[in-house]
Amino acid sequence: MTSRAVIRESFDPKIVKGSDVFLDREFPMSGSNYKLISGLAYKESGIVLNDTKQEMVYSRLARRIRDLKLKDFDEYLHYVKRDIDNEFRSFLNAITTNLTSFFREDHHFVHLKEVTIPLLRKIHLNDKRVRVWCTAASTGEEPYSIAMVMREAFAENSGWDIKILATDIDSNVLETARAGRYKLERIEGIPQARKKRWFKKISDDSVEVSDSLKDLISFKQLNLLKPWPMKGVFDIVFCRNVIIYFDKETQRTLFDKVHLKMAEDAHLYIGHSESLHNVSKKFSPLGKTIYKRK
Ligand SMILES: C[S@@+](CC[C@H](N)C(=O)[O-])C[C@H]1O[C@@H](n2cnc3c(N)ncnc32)[C@H](O)[C@@H]1O
Repeated sequence: MTSRAVIRESFDPKIVKGSDVFLDREFPMSGSNYKLISGLAYKESGIVLNDTKQEMVYSRLARRIRDLKLKDFDEYLHYVKRDIDNEFRSFLNAITTNLTSFFREDHHFVHLKEVTIPLLRKIHLNDKRVRVWCTAASTGEEPYSIAMVMREAFAENSGWDIKILATDIDSNVLETARAGRYKLERIEGIPQARKKRWFKKISDDSVEVSDSLKDLISFKQLNLLKPWPMKGVFDIVFCRNVIIYFDKETQRTLFDKVHLKMAEDAHLYIGHSESLHNVSKKFSPLGKTIYKRK
């Protein structure tokens, strides 16, 4: 059965029963509606929406229902079913959480500069080629932070071939990331010298990242749960603050695949509240939420 057929089947109201949750709201959402939504999210993105997420899901999808001028969640779910190829992307964009910032969890960037880059200089002394994958890039702050550190270590005219692949399931955040334009307050914490070097002012309250950083990065839509089209392996993988939304089984499958996509001795960075304990034995710890591929 194709994945689209699976989605259609999961809409069968006979299969799904649940208590009523938000029937008194602007757009009534029943327990059955919520079960269909969370089932669909899990099947297609791995994101687990348990009952504590009901309020969040309600407010995000209510916005979509308002835009589409529909009556309630029943109507919305029928709409998704009817037009799955078009609406599914908006559905996924609505349920993802995209919180991020420049140099979030700063110790990773210190490690990148002081440990990983010096090691890669030795490993790639001859081919001078480094590949980085940022697996959940969101609105771009993370891959641009990586790009700053990489460019500061390997200048444009250094002869090093550096490329960063930045992927995310959410097509909206990738548009923001590609544009590379941010409100001034987003870069407040960045030291002055870095701000001056890597950002240009485009209005009273906004900046844009320099072309030299943009040129390092390819932004592509990619669902971590679906097949990956990339051919080569990566020397550095950032997989931060995304597996918290997945269950252990999904995490295990994911890191088996990530392992295969990493070069020998490549380094992996995960989020501050994430761990590979009981998930994978294919990585050895190098420090707080930093691992080396075994
Ligand atoms: C909280 S943000 C983390 C952003 C960044 N990595 C950081 O640590 O600041 C989580 C990102 O994971 C993405 N995401 C969620 N499920 C995904 C999946 N199955 N495949 C790819 N990206 C996914 C979301 O769209 C979101 O942009």
